[in-house]
Amino acid sequence: MLNDLLGASELPRREAMALLEAASGKAREALIAHGLDPVPREVRALFARMVAQRKLGIPIAYLTGFREFYGRPFWVSPATLIPRMETELLIDTVIALAPTAGRPLRLADLGTGSGCIGITLALEIRSAEITATDQSAAALQVARNNAARLDAASQMRFHQGSWFDALRHTSQKFHGLISNPPYVAANDPHLSQGDLRFEPKTALSPSAMAKGEAIAIGSDGLADIATLTHEAHYWLEPGGFLLVEHGSEQQTAVIALFHKAGLARVRGLTDSQSQPRAVIGFLAS
Ligand SMILES: C[S@@+](CC[C@H](N)C(=O)[O-])C[C@H]1O[C@@H](n2cnc3c(N)ncnc32)[C@H](O)[C@@H]1O
Repeated sequence: MLNDLLGASELPRREAMALLEAASGKAREALIAHGLDPVPREVRALFARMVAQRKLGIPIAYLTGFREFYGRPFWVSPATLIPRMETELLIDTVIALAPTAGRPLRLADLGTGSGCIGITLALEIRSAEITATDQSAAALQVARNNAARLDAASQMRFHQGSWFDALRHTSQKFHGLISNPPYVAANDPHLSQGDLRFEPKTALSPSAMAKGEAIAIGSDGLADIATLTHEAHYWLEPGGFLLVEHGSEQQTAVIALFHKAGLARVRGLTDSQSQPRAVIGFLAS
């Protein structure tokens, strides 16, 4: 029976229920409605394997295969970061800037991972054309699959490569560049705690020197943000914007990088938990 099975798992009920939904292929409402029915043996066996993996620390999203972002399920794999709620700030910010009529908006999502930012923007702004990039071929394949499943593929282009190098075959400029890049300093103790232990290191911490900047590898987590700010003006239409997520203690340094790159109307943004979480700046028109 449902409650016995959930209780015996010794996991928080919310986690156990998510795993049982995945193991049974049934929605929570159906499981609750049939809560007194015996659970089939093969479902119990699969659930028990998932519970054991969860107890080893494997993130729930890697076990169920998806995480919700902006109200839609995004499939994930160990090659992708698990989408975070705080990243929804980037979506709200772009939607607020998007014209309701007129020219199609050309946007780039740099370091797309599961595709959650670019695909959500495509679905929320149906006139937008989105270029999504990642240096990880495996992540890009997950993003392509998500675009197809969520019916956004016709608005999306995918390119593999490091930051703006991925765009080298396009001659287009963009009305907006959006990125949630790796920004955790390499020596941050959080990297060895919780879900972060299982997520790709290349998605969490910068792995290279910033282009054009004398920043030591991983010393402050800002190397990739420095690369993005340094090169953004080559890729932006006049009046276009660069919008970048960052760690809650990095906003002052990120604003300084935007100013150094000559971007105008630079401002810091806070997420739904009132944490400093992103910076936006514009190329002069
Ligand atoms: C913090 S994750 C964000 C993923 C996704 N956009 C999200 O918000 O969930 C950073 C992403 O940048 C990618 N990445 C890391 N270094 C990169 C580089 N040099 N060029 C392009 N993408 C890179 C990683 O593979 C990862 O998918």
